[in-house]
Amino acid sequence: MNEQIKDRKMIRERLRDMTDPYRELVAYYRCAMMEVETKFRVLDEELSLRYDRDPIETIKTRIKSFDSAIDKLERLGFPLTVESIEKNMHDMAGVRIICSFIEDIYTIANAFLNQDDVTLIEYKDYIKKPKDNGYRSLHLIVEIPIFLHDKKKAMKVEVQLRTISMDFWASLEHKIRYKKDVSLSAYCDNELAECAKIANDLDIKMQTIYNRVKNQ
Ligand code: GTP
Ligand code: MG
Repeated sequence: MNEQIKDRKMIRERLRDMTDPYRELVAYYRCAMMEVETKFRVLDEELSLRYDRDPIETIKTRIKSFDSAIDKLERLGFPLTVESIEKNMHDMAGVRIICSFIEDIYTIANAFLNQDDVTLIEYKDYIKKPKDNGYRSLHLIVEIPIFLHDKKKAMKVEVQLRTISMDFWASLEHKIRYKKDVSLSAYCDNELAECAKIANDLDIKMQTIYNRVKNQ
């Protein structure tokens, strides 16, 4: 075989050695994400019978891109390997649940966490204690099993639960800040915090109106 072709073959093999385990891991995360999404869809179906309305408005899922995963590993000083992604990254698979009312978030989160194949790894309540910039959401890191043809594998998934109003603020705030290396002016920070307060007031008002109508 000529030398050039041999080199190319070697490079291709080396690349495949790195790529295949990564592809496999991403496929496992996709399976875990599907399991979690289904669990929430089942809860929505069941609770909608009880409440006469769907407590979940929308479910969004995403797998973190390879570039974002590598950036984060580098930022945190972890090794840049596929094993390190699985060990150190808790948010490769993300599921975002958009609920109608604040109380729905806790009802749904508790019902999900009470399931015996869901293990809670981390619970961050940015609704009870919002971030300084005004960000609100309930964040869960959970571990759930996926059942493959020859084994069972525990996978981590990040779940974010929010109301429509929390999602509205977070989505636009993300767009405004996204990829801006320079920090925003104090004026813009204050304006965004003010918007977060208005979004929170809306949630509380809507919940109050709903409770009043429900109890009539
Ligand atoms: P990450 O490196 O971002 O994962 O930090 P962390 O591990 O401290 O996570 P945290 O639970 O605080 O937030 C993780 C995710 O929540 C982010 O990737 C965003 O999706 C969302 N998030 C957190 N803070 C903000 C915020 O201030 N604004 C917006 N728009 N989203 C946020
Ligand atoms: Mg995180």
